[in-house]
Amino acid sequence: MDKRIGALILAAGKGTRMKSDAPKVLKTLLGEPMLWYGEQALATLLGEGVLTVIGHRAEAVEAAFPDLAGRFVLQAEQLGTGHALSVAMPLLLDAGYSHVLVANGDAPLVTAESLGAFVTEALGAAADVAFVSIELPDPGAYGRVVRQGGGVRIVEAKDYDVSRDGPATGEINAGVYLLRLEAVAPLLAGLRNDNKSGEYYITDLVGLGAAAGLAVLAVNRGDDPAYLGINSPRELVAAEEALRRRIVDGHLDAGVVIRAAGAVRIGPRVALAPGVELCGPLELYGDTRVAAGATVFSHSVLANVAIGANVTVHSFCHLQDARVAAGCQVGPYARLRPGAVLLEGAKIGNFVEMKKSTLGPGAKASHLTYLGDTTVGAEANIGAGTITCNYDGVHKHQTVIGAHAFIGSNSALVAPVTIGDGALVGAGSVITSDVPGGALALGRGRQVTKPRK
Ligand code: UD1
Ligand code: CA
Repeated sequence: MDKRIGALILAAGKGTRMKSDAPKVLKTLLGEPMLWYGEQALATLLGEGVLTVIGHRAEAVEAAFPDLAGRFVLQAEQLGTGHALSVAMPLLLDAGYSHVLVANGDAPLVTAESLGAFVTEALGAAADVAFVSIELPDPGAYGRVVRQGGGVRIVEAKDYDVSRDGPATGEINAGVYLLRLEAVAPLLAGLRNDNKSGEYYITDLVGLGAAAGLAVLAVNRGDDPAYLGINSPRELVAAEEALRRRIVDGHLDAGVVIRAAGAVRIGPRVALAPGVELCGPLELYGDTRVAAGATVFSHSVLANVAIGANVTVHSFCHLQDARVAAGCQVGPYARLRPGAVLLEGAKIGNFVEMKKSTLGPGAKASHLTYLGDTTVGAEANIGAGTITCNYDGVHKHQTVIGAHAFIGSNSALVAPVTIGDGALVGAGSVITSDVPGGALALGRGRQVTKPRK
């Protein structure tokens, strides 16, 4: 791809039709913000350096994308898509680009391949102003492509006048443009906002370009739904569903067994080894990786979790920012919170919660346990109902449990506390001081048995 093509995403708008105060481009599809997809597609095609115009709640958008720091352009007042381009134009010219590929920030299903084919076609035709058009049975709120007298222009739905523009054909503007900067920069001053929205439209560059004798090209992508914009909650979830199917199909094709696939939601960054088995309903998000031979059963939610080879995650588990090494068993009904680490062959069973804790190789916590800020050594056994009391109301404290230690059921380990290797804690103990390796600790009231009155 030609190195002199810059990339610009228009993402400053409020997204009024979303009826939410959050910036529209931060609404998520399968766990990733809408803007992530556009940025990804453009960066895949053109390399780093994608510029993004932001405005409405700009600070929130910037905070959500720390990696893009320095590549945002502020459109303080959102005076329209043409105005957004004008704000970015000095930067694009300074960067020495010959062309810029501009995309609306609200069409996350558009792929790098599709954009690449458009750019190739536009460059091949030596177009000064090129845009993608698609065909819709009902042009709805989209800008309509009008071809009259050999010319072409885009008329926004609100401004459409059948007596002037003729009956709408169903060919609409997809909101993706390739612009030759030297040709287009002088046109920006000619944009006017005397339209129904009172905005400066990027789409007017098509008519202005044609009138100025520039080479204007519409590249028709037929009925490709990937180009549909997301403006409302209904459109958001419809696009998300299409994306979901695309991603699930990709994994099925790559050798992942996905049962009840219609209810499996997999984010775009999730990596699944061939041979992995999943069963829906199931949600896998973020930077989740599942190694070969692993199975994840239904009704589980995993976000940013590394699952090792041959692990089984049983139903109804909730795992986030956690690591599960090869051969572990998890659940059913287990919760791994951020910082939970299961080393090889460890097991957590039902109603076990872990946070910032490591369970050593082969160690087990099979039932009804809370491990917070805890390190458990190899092959230790944590009995049912064990609770690490890690919080004194002000500070969090550490618990260390040695290798081969055995914690009897229903014990409370009051941190900070260390249980040595091979130590035994009697059931029902409240342990408030360290237990040396190999020792037996009992911290409970002695049973009293008397005759009944
Ligand atoms: C726009 C096009 C329309 C096209 C449709 C395709 C214009 C005038 N119209 O309409 O022809 O059919 O996309 O989906 O461009 N934005 C800014 N600054 C602004 C205004 C908008 O950055 O001042 C951004 C928005 O955040 C959004 C994008 O530009 O990502 C498009 O704006 P939107 O209001 O969604 O335009 P549409 O009405 O959908
Ligand atoms: Ca839109």
